[in-house]
Amino acid sequence: MRLKKLIFSSNRKHKKIGKMKNSKRFVKILGVGSYVPEKVVTNDDLSKIVDTSDEWIRARTGIRERRIAASDQTTSDLCVCAARKAMENASIAVDDIDLILTGTITSDVVLPSTSVFIQTKLGLKNIPCLDYNVACSGLQYGIELARSLIESRRYKNILLVCGDKLSAITDWEDRSTCILFGDGAGAIVLSATENEEENSIIDVVLGANGEHSELIILPAGGSREPASEKTVSERKHFMKMSGRDLFREAVKIMGNCAQEILDRNGMSANDMDFVVTHQANWRIIDAVRERLGVSPEKVCVTIEKYGNTSASSCIIALDSLIKNGKIVRGSKVLTVGFGAGLTWGAAILKF
Ligand code: ACO
Repeated sequence: MRLKKLIFSSNRKHKKIGKMKNSKRFVKILGVGSYVPEKVVTNDDLSKIVDTSDEWIRARTGIRERRIAASDQTTSDLCVCAARKAMENASIAVDDIDLILTGTITSDVVLPSTSVFIQTKLGLKNIPCLDYNVACSGLQYGIELARSLIESRRYKNILLVCGDKLSAITDWEDRSTCILFGDGAGAIVLSATENEEENSIIDVVLGANGEHSELIILPAGGSREPASEKTVSERKHFMKMSGRDLFREAVKIMGNCAQEILDRNGMSANDMDFVVTHQANWRIIDAVRERLGVSPEKVCVTIEKYGNTSASSCIIALDSLIKNGKIVRGSKVLTVGFGAGLTWGAAILKF
C-alpha cells in the first residue's frame, strides 16, 4: 500500500514535469555586479611613460583615467569580486549556482580555464565551468549561451562572468594602445522562470568575421608562434592593433547589429530606456548613438573613468545605471558589443 502510494505520487510528479517540459521556460536577470581594481592611473601618469598627453587622450578617446590591477591580482580574482556582488544583489546562495560561464581573453594561465579558478575561489565543487573567448562581445555571447542552456532546461542558475586584466597583455611602450585599456570585471546571475512576465532576454543577435582577425591580435604564445626568446624580444606577447581600421569597423558593425535587432523586434532605439555599447572610444559610442538617432541622455558612457575594459565594459556600465537608480524594474536596455575576432553582438534586455 505504501509502495503503491509512492508510485502514484511519483507518477503524478513525472506527469507534472512532463507538462513543464513542454511549456516554454524564460530567463530572468536576478542580479548584476561589477568590480574594478583600486589603483587609478591617470592620463598624466601615462604621459610620464610614453609620449602622449592628457589633452590628446581625452580628445581622441574620452578617457581620463583607468583602473589597473595589482601585480598579484589575477583575472579570476577580479571576476570573483564581481561575481560575489552579483550573487549578493541576486539574493542567491553560492551553492545554488549550477554553471559558471566566463568570457575572458586574459585567462589566469593558458591551461586550465579561468572558470575553474573562479569555481574554487567561490567554494564551489563539481559544477561545470566553461571559458569562451570573444573579447569585447563577451556579454552578448554569454547571454545567448546562458539563455539557451536555461531554456533547454539543462541549467537553472547560471553565473555569467566577464573579466579581463588587460594590463597584463598591454604593451606599456606603445602609446597607440596603452592609453586605451583598463582592468575590470562584471557578473550577471541568470535564472530560470516559468513566468513570461519575468523574462529579461527579449532577443540576442550575434556575429563574427575571421577575415579581420589581424586587426587586433596577440600574435605569440599560442600554437601558431609558441613563446620563445625571439617572440618575447619582438614584444609579440602584447596586443597589436590597427586603431583606425578598428574604429571604422566598430562604428559600422555596432550600428548595423543594433539596427538589425531593433528592426526584427519592430522597435526603435527610442523605445529603449538606455543604450549600453562596448566602451572602446567615446567617439565610437557617439557615432553609434547618432546612427541610431537616440539622445545622449539615453547612452551610458563610463569610458572616461575606466577606459576599455573588454567584455566587462557593458556589464560595468549596466551596473552603474542600476546603482544610480536609472535602470528600474521594467527598464528596457539595448546592449551592443564589438571585439577582437572580429566578433559582435546585440541584446535587448528587460529588467
Ligand atoms: N598620444 C599622442 N599621439 C598619439 C597617440 C598618443 N597616445 N597615439 C597615436 N598618436 C599619434 C599617431 O602617431 C598619429 O600621428 P601621425 O599623424 O604623426 O602619424 C596621430 O596621433 C593620429 O593617429 P591615429 O591612429 O590616426 O589616431 P586616431 O584618431 O585614429 O585615434 C585610436 C587612435 C584612439 C586608437 C582610435 O583609432 C581608436 O579608438 N580606435 C579603435 C580602437 C578599438 O576599438 N580598440 C579595441 C576594440 S576590440 C577590444 O576592445 C578588445
